[in-house]
Order: sequence, then structure tokens, then C-alpha cells
Amino acid sequence: MADLRTNFAGIKSPNPFWLASGPPTNTYGQVAKAFDQGWGGAVWKTIGEPIINVFSRYGSVDLGQNRMMGFNNIELITDRPIAENLKEIAEVKRNYPKHAVIASLMVESKREAWHTMVKQTEDTGADGIELNFGCPHGMSERGMGSAVGQVPDYTCQIVEWVKEVATIPVIVKLTPNVTDITYIARAAVKGGADALSLINTINSIVGIDLTTFEPQPSVAGKSSHGGYCGPAVKPIALHLVSAVAGDPSVKIPISGIGGIATWRDAAEFIALGAGTLQVCTAVMHYGFRIVEDLIDGLSNWMDERGHRSLADIRGRALPRVTKWTNASSVSCVGRHARMGRIKRSGGCRVTTAGRSWRSSRKRASGVTFAQRCAP
Ligand SMILES: Cc1cc2nc3c(=O)[nH]c(=O)nc-3n(C[C@H](O)[C@H](O)[C@H](O)COP(=O)(O)O)c2cc1C
Repeated sequence: MADLRTNFAGIKSPNPFWLASGPPTNTYGQVAKAFDQGWGGAVWKTIGEPIINVFSRYGSVDLGQNRMMGFNNIELITDRPIAENLKEIAEVKRNYPKHAVIASLMVESKREAWHTMVKQTEDTGADGIELNFGCPHGMSERGMGSAVGQVPDYTCQIVEWVKEVATIPVIVKLTPNVTDITYIARAAVKGGADALSLINTINSIVGIDLTTFEPQPSVAGKSSHGGYCGPAVKPIALHLVSAVAGDPSVKIPISGIGGIATWRDAAEFIALGAGTLQVCTAVMHYGFRIVEDLIDGLSNWMDERGHRSLADIRGRALPRVTKWTNASSVSCVGRHARMGRIKRSGGCRVTTAGRSWRSSRKRASGVTFAQRCAP
């Protein structure tokens, strides 16, 4: 049986499946229930100065019969007092010593504020700290969240402040709402981060009510951009994880987040370099029980393929992610030219697209011409 035990930057958990910071990790009761059902770790809903949340705060994009292909929220950090959260984190850790309990933090960008928060958190016995530098709405307007995570100097500075007092591993959670995520990842490394997690949510407006012209989710007739997540963001998250994991100056562990709902999703993130996986939307949609399928599916697949531990598959796809210009299109051109679907001189770009597309769609494999031709 495949060994799913995980040691992530010194944080141990029985398996790599962690709940991501969000609504499912807001209380003792939720996290305890999740651990009972098999989750290996949990990143607590971000703690900070209590705020007031708005209603409604969730929106979704459906695709055909599929509900919640993409999910959007304008929720802020926890609206429960810091002391209450810390007390419950300590209680969870006491009752579930073998599970990973991570405190997600966000406070004002002041050195003393961070020192105080980190010391209080360490008193709970938490295994690690995750710095939320990614929240794209509400907190960023107050100089926190993605307002920090979009500027390499701020990122580096706050990680340095945290590391001045932290004795447990510090994970920096990155925002995807930047031009090049590797700049921020390197800044976190420079500041002394022990690990990275990505991605937080993507700036989005999920829709407009065409009767009232209210953006969704509507709060008394108005709304703001919110954070997009769920299955729709997985391809973006995979790309960003590969960009960070493939950056030679970022040699610290990565926790993969974004649209994970099945064991296949998880395996893909691991193959691109992730050490643990975090899940939020799929748990909100289907419940904590999905962890059983995640564990069974991943370990069965590993057994079938002869992979004994997660280290056997971690990063295996990375050497195959290359610049387009380094990818050979020769075999593609040759193969399809022989099949009479490509004009030899121009390769894929001058393919007789309509005909090829149609003929490929008839194939049972489900792999399209465009996919087969991709580098
Ligand atoms: C309703 C909601 C609230 C969230 N709150 C937080 C939060 O407090 N702190 C944080 O770091 N991320 C928060 N997130 C982001 C998730 O942790 C995660 O990064 C993101 O949703 C992508 O993962 P997913 O596709 O599995 O949901 C929240 C996400 C959702 C949907």
C-alpha cells in the first residue's frame, strides 16, 4: 500500500490532503470532524482583527448541467475574535496531535502587530503559520492581503518580521493576481519563508443580473470584484505551481491549491512539484467525505503504477514543462502531415484547421487535434 505520510517543511501529516483556509476551517467542530473523516491537515480560516462580513458573499458560474464550475466570494477573514480562534486551535492540536494544524494570519503591516500575533499563535502549539498575502478584496484596500503579496519588497519585509520571532515553519500563501508570480515567490524566499502555498483566489466578477444590473453576489444592489476558485481555476493554478516549482531560485516546499476535487487533480499537482494539497471549494460543494475518495484514488493509482511514496511522483512532470520554443514540433508535423491533415511547410499553425478539428473530434480518445499538437 502506497505511503501517503507527508513531511512538509518539517510539518508532519498522515496524508497530503489539507483543508485550505476558508469557511470549512472556521471552528473547532469543523476541523475536528474533518480530521475524523480522514483529512491530514487543516489551515485555519485566516485570523486577524475581527471584521464584519457582508451578505450575500458567494457567487458561482455553472457550465451546462454542472453546478459551480467556478466559485466566487467576497468574504473577508474570520469574523470571530482572535482569542476564540486561538483557543480552538490549541484544542484541536491537543486532541489531534498527529494532524497538521496551521494558523493562517493576516494583520496590519506593522512589525509589532506581526510579532504579537505570531507569538500568540505559537502558544497554541500549532504546527505552522501560513501568511495570507493573497486575499484580493476588502483586506487589500486596507493595506493587507494581496496589497502585500503583489509587491516583492513588502512580501520580503513582512516575512522577515515574522521570521524574527517564529520558531515554527512559515508558509507564504501567494496571490495569482500578479504579472509574474516567481518574483513574489523569490521575495518570500529572500525573507526566509520555509514554504509556499498557491494559489489564493483570482480577481473576478461572476455575473450581472440583467434585470437589475446588479453584479453578483449582490449586497443591497451593489457588489465588488471577488476571489474566483473551484474547478475553473485548476489549469491556472497548475501553471503557477509549475512556474514556482521550476524556478531554480525557489527551492522550498510548495503546497498546491486551486480547483482540487479528485485524486487525479491531486496527482497532477504533485507531479508538478506540490508537497501537500489544499482544498476549499470542493469541500464546500461536496462535504468533508470527499477525502475518502482522494486517499483511495491516489493510493490505488500509486499502487498500480508502482509508486511507493509521494516522493516517487513529486515533480516528475516538471522536466517536461518547457518553453514553447524548446518543444519539438517536428514529430507532430511529421505525423499529421502523413495523415494528410497538415501542410508540411507550416506545421500546426497552418493546418487545415476545420477539417482536422472535425476529424479529431470523431475519435474515441477524446483527445483533440489541438491537444495532440500542443508542445
Ligand atoms: C468562501 C471562501 C473563503 C476563503 N477564505 C480564505 C481565507 O480566509 N484565507 C485564505 O488564505 N484563503 C481563503 N480562501 C481561498 C482558499 O483557501 C483557496 O486558496 C482558494 O479557494 C482556491 O482553492 P479551491 O479552488 O480549492 O477553493 C477562501 C476561499 C473561499 C471560497
